Amino acid sequence: MAANRTLTIIKPDAFGAGKAGKIIAHLEAGGFRVVAARVMRLSTAQAGEFYAVHKGRPFYGELVEFMTSGECMPMILEKADAVLALRDAIGATDPAQAAEGTVRKLYAESKGRNAIHASDSDENAARESRFFFAEADCVRG
Ligand code: CMP
Repeated sequence: MAANRTLTIIKPDAFGAGKAGKIIAHLEAGGFRVVAARVMRLSTAQAGEFYAVHKGRPFYGELVEFMTSGECMPMILEKADAVLALRDAIGATDPAQAAEGTVRKLYAESKGRNAIHASDSDENAARESRFFFAEADCVRG
């Protein structure tokens, strides 16, 4: 059975532009519950570790630079089949390709500055959630 929690990050472009509240409201209206949240500025080491899977890709340097350029907002979200549900809700990586009504269609600027991250598997959701949060940071039940 698919897990019911996933990890998202409201990225520095959206957080810095004051879009966090609208994005959270949009996700809550879509049935997601926020079970953990924080505001932080990633260090270069943290961003490099979080995106280690993309090391060697042409956009890796740009990605780390962008993700450390301002505050971001990691959150753990809860909904049935959370990973798939959130990926549907945020839309394609490139906002130009994202479906109407998705977070990226509504709030992202470009493929690089694309407003929001979502885990791509249950395994990565668990790993990424542990990266930012301890069990005690999450609501219980
Ligand atoms: P996300 O899926 O959250 O995590 C990996 C990120 O790499 C992705 O969002 C984009 O922001 C970024 N990314 C992927 N492809 C490109 C690209 N071609 N140019 C710049 N950034 C990219």
